[in-house]
Amino acid sequence: MVRTRNAILPDVEQIHAIIRAYSGNGMLLPRTLAELRENVRDFVVAEEDGKIVGCGALHLYGMHLAEIRSIAVTPSTKGLGAGRKLVEALLQEAGRHEVTCVCLFTRIPEFFAHMGFSLAKRDDLPDKIYKDCVHCPAFNACDEIAMYRGEIPKHSGVRDLQIPKPLVKLTV
Ligand SMILES: CC(C)(COP(=O)(O)OP(=O)(O)OC[C@H]1O[C@@H](n2cnc3c(N)ncnc32)[C@H](O)[C@@H]1OP(=O)(O)O)[C@@H](O)C(=O)NCCC(=O)NCCS
Repeated sequence: MVRTRNAILPDVEQIHAIIRAYSGNGMLLPRTLAELRENVRDFVVAEEDGKIVGCGALHLYGMHLAEIRSIAVTPSTKGLGAGRKLVEALLQEAGRHEVTCVCLFTRIPEFFAHMGFSLAKRDDLPDKIYKDCVHCPAFNACDEIAMYRGEIPKHSGVRDLQIPKPLVKLTV
């Protein structure tokens, strides 16, 4: 029986190992141990017989937007409902904060569509673009699909957004 609970600092090494298993092939963004310790309160873990078998995080931008990140289960636990329980726990956490829109960026939109998420336009989620995408080498060639559940935010929590335009190749 898989259960979810909020993560605590002693869980960080196991969370790190689960994420690392999927970050080599680009399925998940890598997270350092230091980053995980600082943000452990964002995380929920899935446990089976006292062993951590999955994790996921909810990053809060404000009541208008939160983002599901770093969601994964161990290979031997796939297909047993842990992923759904993690998504449900993170949505419940968003609800506790009265967040009106939860977004995510993924290469497996079928799974999240199954969890009630719809396709979003990247431009509808400027908080995310400002926080992460502008620093990403794949900014102009991103193959992740933006999805959301709830109401697309009518405004951003970020003032004076300076989102760079795609680079134009100049020929002389
Ligand atoms: C995505 C992931 C978290 C799903 O976890 P899981 O525990 O295997 O999923 P569940 O068993 O809870 O599946 C819930 C439902 O989604 C469906 N599902 C699972 N993976 C799916 C996929 N890749 N595509 C479509 N549907 C999927 C299941 O069939 C199940 O349907 P049901 O409830 O109607 O029976 C897991 O496959 C994983 O860790 N993947 C690698 C990391 C990753 O890609 N994370 C997402 C990054 S954005």
